[in-house]
Amino acid sequence: MKYFSLVSSLSSLLSSRIEAVAGVDPELRPATKPQFGHFQSNVALRLAKTEGKPPREVAARIVAELDVSDLCEPLDVAGPGFLNFRLKSEVLARSVTEQLADPSAGVAPAANRQVVVIDYSAPNVAKQMHVGHLRSTIIGDCLNRVLRAVGHQVIAQNHIGDWGTQFGMLVEQILEDFTDVSGLSLADAEALYLKANAHFKVDPDFAARARNRVVALQAGDAETRKIWQQLIEISLAGFNEAYERLGVLLTDADLAGESTYNDDLPQVVAELEASGVAVIDDGALCVFVEGFNSPMIVRKSDGGFGYSATDLAAIRRRVREFGADRLIYVVGAPQLFHFDQVFAVARKAGFLPENVAAEHIAFGQVLGPDGKKFSTREGTAVNLNSLLDAAEEKAAPPIALAAIKYADLSNGLNKDYVFDVDRMVATVGNTGPYLQYAHARLTQVLRKAEADGLSLETTVTVLTEPAEETLALLLSKFGGVVAEVAEGLQPHKLCSYLYDLSGALSVFYEQCPVLKSEGEVRSSRLALCLATKRVLASGLDMLGIEALERM
Ligand code: ARG
Repeated sequence: MKYFSLVSSLSSLLSSRIEAVAGVDPELRPATKPQFGHFQSNVALRLAKTEGKPPREVAARIVAELDVSDLCEPLDVAGPGFLNFRLKSEVLARSVTEQLADPSAGVAPAANRQVVVIDYSAPNVAKQMHVGHLRSTIIGDCLNRVLRAVGHQVIAQNHIGDWGTQFGMLVEQILEDFTDVSGLSLADAEALYLKANAHFKVDPDFAARARNRVVALQAGDAETRKIWQQLIEISLAGFNEAYERLGVLLTDADLAGESTYNDDLPQVVAELEASGVAVIDDGALCVFVEGFNSPMIVRKSDGGFGYSATDLAAIRRRVREFGADRLIYVVGAPQLFHFDQVFAVARKAGFLPENVAAEHIAFGQVLGPDGKKFSTREGTAVNLNSLLDAAEEKAAPPIALAAIKYADLSNGLNKDYVFDVDRMVATVGNTGPYLQYAHARLTQVLRKAEADGLSLETTVTVLTEPAEETLALLLSKFGGVVAEVAEGLQPHKLCSYLYDLSGALSVFYEQCPVLKSEGEVRSSRLALCLATKRVLASGLDMLGIEALERM
């Protein structure tokens, strides 16, 4: 029998056996002390209450009925009736061996393979990416990698802001200044945007022209479109530079900006009107949904379409054309209301059937060292390049990047976090570089073994030390953790797991000499090192962090 079942770690295998006998979830927990074995359960105490019997008697009954002798040492009832489980060391050893034989290190394909659309990054044309886009890009990319790892078909969508009213003022300003757009950088374009925006606020004539310009853009006026296209090109060049620097999966093939839905909008409107879901209110086409104070405006009274309309069209396309089973949006928490409403409207309109999940993965803010929203001295949002530069002042690029990504992923996503470069780049503590260091150290140990003429073992035969067992037990949990993150979309769980694994590894190094031991002990320890290295490499890859060979 295969103990290291691909779909369940040893703990879940054990758990299901106990549940079969006890009739309720044993709520298996890691043992609080090594002398209690590996796992504990209070199931007998809980059952005793409902059955009105002494807990130890219930515990004894479960022990008598439960056959886990292939997995565990003889069971032990402790104190008032806790059940203690100690896995047999040969079971743990075999589990590591089987994980080593598996090319995906124990990550199993999901039972139902889905088409998952992830909407992430989504910066705005003629503006540099700021910290919010940094978070979206890093988190979205991690989810993309995790979902792919468990076999889903992931479609990334970069919903760039390329269609808003800002283009009216931008184009108008460009024409007024006779600016040669082709020579601009993204930073220049942003400066132009700020200028146009200020101009718009103080000059009503300019504002009126800018508004007409938006209409011209949406109607396809050639001169306007040409300048708009040039703005997109310089923006994309800037975005791609950032993606390259970040080492993310996004490519031009994933671009699906707001403008790409323009041709779908008349059809969206037609369907909304035909079904009676949308109504004209004060000249605007609106959808009222229960539970929302204000309606969603699909088409403004001047005929223009906004952000919500494009998002509605995007859902429709993702469901109908891509055949999505799950829609994920990685966008900051301030857009909570927007997505709640868009999803509700899309459900009402029949664009989003009940069997398609839609999830807004809202994330918190990056705070400056003062604990306030991170901004420049001028009060604008800090841009992505300056964050990366700050980290690269302290560490080599792959380490700086690991520091930034890990800091972003290792907290609960909805929490704000402080951008503290020194803490993030440290190789001690719960940081990306610490995990990279654990991986690099393993690589060096294994290299040294090879240089000493030892063959790298892929079979664990003996596990005797508690530190070895802890490591083996943790390794067996990898597949379960990845499955959980693919389901619940909480990357910090993968981070904590890898951090725990790296911690267990340092205890193992301290207590279990590898190269200085001999025979079966040494070969088993080398195999443990190899298995840990593979899990770390695979886990880091899912976080979008490079597993370095040396540091
Ligand atoms: N461009 C938007 C922003 O910068 C984010 C777009 C998110 N995606 C979406 N489908 N609305 O805030």
